[in-house]
Amino acid sequence: MRMYDLIEKKKCGGILTKEEIDFMIRGYTHGDIPDYQMSAMTMAICFQGMTPQETGDLTLAMRDSGDTLDLSGIRGIKVDKHSTGGVGDKTSLTLAPLVSSVGVKVAKMSGRGLGHTGGTIDKLESIPGFSTELTMDAFISQVDRIGMAIMGQTAELAPADKKLYALRDVTATVDQMALIASSIMSKKLAAGADAIVLDVKCGSGAFMRDRKGADALAEAMVSIGKHAGKQIWAYITDMDQPLGNAVGNAIEVREAIETLKGKGPEDFRELVLTLGSRMCVFAGVAKDFDSAYALLAEQLRSGKALEQMARFVEAQGGDASYVFDETKLKIAAHTKQLKAERDGYISGIACAEVGMASLALGGGRETKADIIDPEVGIYLYKKTGDAVRAGDMLAELYYNDEKKGAEGLERLAKAYRFGDTAPEKRAIILGEVEG
Ligand code: URA
Repeated sequence: MRMYDLIEKKKCGGILTKEEIDFMIRGYTHGDIPDYQMSAMTMAICFQGMTPQETGDLTLAMRDSGDTLDLSGIRGIKVDKHSTGGVGDKTSLTLAPLVSSVGVKVAKMSGRGLGHTGGTIDKLESIPGFSTELTMDAFISQVDRIGMAIMGQTAELAPADKKLYALRDVTATVDQMALIASSIMSKKLAAGADAIVLDVKCGSGAFMRDRKGADALAEAMVSIGKHAGKQIWAYITDMDQPLGNAVGNAIEVREAIETLKGKGPEDFRELVLTLGSRMCVFAGVAKDFDSAYALLAEQLRSGKALEQMARFVEAQGGDASYVFDETKLKIAAHTKQLKAERDGYISGIACAEVGMASLALGGGRETKADIIDPEVGIYLYKKTGDAVRAGDMLAELYYNDEKKGAEGLERLAKAYRFGDTAPEKRAIILGEVEG
């Protein structure tokens, strides 16, 4: 087999076989196929597309290019959740303790933030003592014992995707649906869960800006999951404004804990209950979605989900007293306020700008080597659809460095848009794709 012939075949609209895809991914991972041939192939895929069968085969080839986690040592059904990423997305911090409090097993490998979106690992590290560095044995035994664990990614999951993604990034071939779906799903499948719930974000702060793209991505990923024999379900959810009110690190952990206490912003609570209910049905701990929803709402109300969060934090070396009193999590003492300049309605919040404002404060990384400041962040007092009077506080920024604070405020001011009439309200759950 020659890579040249495979490029020629795809260029002319041919369908690659599983053997050809395996050959290509194996060769590329080991360095036998050079970047220039692979970039010709990804460009041909951009023009000719891939069938669902090809996309599934590509995903499995990338999944098998490195380590795959063996979670068989954990009793019960392991359910994973994946979000395509957004601003203020603290979902895993609330969702994992909530669903594991009713018996769903959650073995989660998470990442750090880069660019305008945050990472679960950085957020968790704002809890004093908390360690995200576990051995694989400790990780598996913790999930088996208490129902959940979250660790930083150590295993080399899907190295073919890592190499291919870096190549796509510099050859204008990122935005091809089959390539995006196979990239995300190869890593999810390598992480070893029995069932997967996907949160496909849609809007100005998301990878998929419009509904058509988000639906297509959700459908492509669900199709891959089924191809791999997994239980899978996707929700398309709103990311046209930040999720909840808090954006940052410690400040997001506070909001995640408030939600575990039965409070928290309504959009965030609904998202967590929806994703969680589907996870419960997959794990067999509830007979249907509605009974799962009621069960989880009761776990929030009764404090059982919060107790599970405390168990999880303690198991990973953290100080559980911060869970019972989240205000102990330190937030930067210097504040700046963004005020409305006119009467009217908030007609939109440019989500990516809010993420960039948090980054400017020091809450994120521009390069992998940057060190983040867990204390800085933003609290949005007004969100899309709210009526405001000139002078009302829209948002507050918390910072430790005056120059960064000023820069953050300047960016945040660009995020808010105003109108004279109330905009149509967008639901948090926009749609779903059944597995
Ligand atoms: N995220 C990924 O992991 N891969 C893509 O291709 C796009 C977003």
